[in-house]
Amino acid sequence: MTPRKNAMPVPALSATLLDWYDHHARDLPWRVPPAARKAGIRPDPYRVWLSEVMLQQTTVAAVRSYFHRFTTLWPSVAALAAADDAAVMAEWAGLGYYARARNLLKCARAVVADHDGRFPDKVAGLRGLPGIGPYTAAAIAAIAFDRAETVVDGNVERVMARLHDVHTPLPAAKAELTALAAALTPAARPGDYAQAVMDLGATICTPRSPACGICPWRASCAARMAGTAPDLPKKTPKKAQPVRRGFAYVARRADGAWLLETRPDSGLLGGMLGWPCSDWSDVPDPAPPLDADWSRLGAEARHTFTHFHLRLEILTARLPLDAAPARGQWVPAAAFRPASLPTVMRKVHDLAAASLRHD
Ligand code: ADE
Repeated sequence: MTPRKNAMPVPALSATLLDWYDHHARDLPWRVPPAARKAGIRPDPYRVWLSEVMLQQTTVAAVRSYFHRFTTLWPSVAALAAADDAAVMAEWAGLGYYARARNLLKCARAVVADHDGRFPDKVAGLRGLPGIGPYTAAAIAAIAFDRAETVVDGNVERVMARLHDVHTPLPAAKAELTALAAALTPAARPGDYAQAVMDLGATICTPRSPACGICPWRASCAARMAGTAPDLPKKTPKKAQPVRRGFAYVARRADGAWLLETRPDSGLLGGMLGWPCSDWSDVPDPAPPLDADWSRLGAEARHTFTHFHLRLEILTARLPLDAAPARGQWVPAAAFRPASLPTVMRKVHDLAAASLRHD
């Protein structure tokens, strides 16, 4: 791409952004702030990895409390590797994309078993670990080990599309935006630089109403000059997602215990605890976990997954102490935490709980 006349040279662009980051870096629990980093303090690769996995498809605001709980319960990769699978899945509940949690455990165990408990410090080694794709490998290599890798998330794509006034819609523009981001990545402080571009996208170059007036790159931003910044990046409209339906069975025993089922590891919500359900399809087959006097609650839990909208019709039943369900396990009332359910299952609980109160 030919440089524009009034664009700053590349080293000046990265230096300007790093200077901005020195003053405006967000205070994040997994981050070593720029002053501490300059003083020689290095980030803990475990915390960098954990935060990056949590932050995929999720906002910083949502991740903070999960990060705090995980690092309190499991302060090191060795501690996480030794954790009980069900406990980790329960703590992940609500963050979504549950394959991430299953891979998190696999990855922690691989780091302990195959790498002596230390994360590899280069992209190639990191890519060999479960659940670590190109984005996460680049982020860990850059942030934890200060390797000159280019880290491209949605924030960075937006910043690059605007800085260079790229009108090609996403996802087709991905390769071009990645190349533009790579051309700006400096050899000095690449870890801070990677975080600086993400912070810029999260705090100034925001999706709506970007604060161009206070942007450190305002003098070089092609979209700002063209007046197109709020309209970029362009996106190819997504196809409307289909609706699937299903039945969720919420049963409570006379002693207050709830009937829950651990879902199979493969498939949606794999490894998570939930209410026994029918299949989820156009025309679901009712599949109660046992014969009982099921009542229709008359309420539907709605949830949107990546590729479809789900509507679950809720059926409830009160069961005697000797009820013998064909699937699932009884969870005593005192041990049941609705927060350990994935969001759609928690919605079902919240709708059904009042009609199954137990005193
Ligand atoms: N979003 C994802 N990872 C991030 C990081 N390390 N810093 C800021 N925002 C992020």
